[in-house]
Amino acid sequence: MFFKNLLATDDPKQVKDVTRISESFKNIRANMMFALVGTNKEKAKIILFTSAEQGDGKSTSCINVAAAYADSNAKVLVVDADLRRPKIARYTNSDRKTTGLSDYLGGFCTLEEAISRPEGCNFDCLFSGRVPPNPSELLMIDEVEHMFEELSEKYDYIFIDTPPVGIVSETIYLTQFVSGVVVVVKKDSSHFKAVKESISLLEFAKANILGFVVNDAFDAKSKKYYYKRRRYYYYE
Ligand SMILES: Nc1ncnc2c1ncn2[C@@H]1O[C@H](COP(=O)(O)OP(=O)(O)O)[C@@H](O)[C@H]1O
Ligand SMILES: [Mg+2]
Repeated sequence: MFFKNLLATDDPKQVKDVTRISESFKNIRANMMFALVGTNKEKAKIILFTSAEQGDGKSTSCINVAAAYADSNAKVLVVDADLRRPKIARYTNSDRKTTGLSDYLGGFCTLEEAISRPEGCNFDCLFSGRVPPNPSELLMIDEVEHMFEELSEKYDYIFIDTPPVGIVSETIYLTQFVSGVVVVVKKDSSHFKAVKESISLLEFAKANILGFVVNDAFDAKSKKYYYKRRRYYYYE
């Protein structure tokens, strides 16, 4: 399964490249599996996707990697924790008003009621729910820890889509509940300084950075999306 609609592009060569992109996500999955070896063995692996800036491809990467994992018969949940600019409902062609995370954390529904399976998807989603006036406060309540504990019992992999790490505080807060963090970098568009600052913030929070997805790194010889283990990343 692959959300080719997310990668709409005017370049006909790239449109034709859907199979190759799908393969790229499988490669990302394989690399992440290695990076996750040794992290919380009994419970679900919880992986947080973030980046330095808006539009780097966090939501796109998160959902496509989730789909790649679900293709391997894992029980997968995607959590849209970007309560400010939620995209997961839109990217799964679901109703944007579907009950979700904010409704659950606000005490308006149960966790079961907040989770849905979008039509045609092989994974569950905890959409953002109604956009709350106070996203940071809502995500920083004790209930969040309890929620991840409960979800860990039910799923093999949980992928969290978050807002840019350097811009809002909730992303760093959420890193304490996860097995690892994937940082999305958009080739020729992400600002080096912003990426570096994001890494510093994540390191300061002692987040386990699993690696980097380099988005839009298409060229004839390589793949559009690819994943770098962090030791290859530093090039300053
Ligand atoms: N590799 C790509 N090629 C073409 N369009 C892309 C690519 N990655 C992301 N996009 C598009 O860019 C926009 C922003 O992507 P998104 O994943 O929502 O970013 P973020 O979650 O980091 O803000 C979306 O419209 C998405 O479809
Ligand atoms: Mg997003």
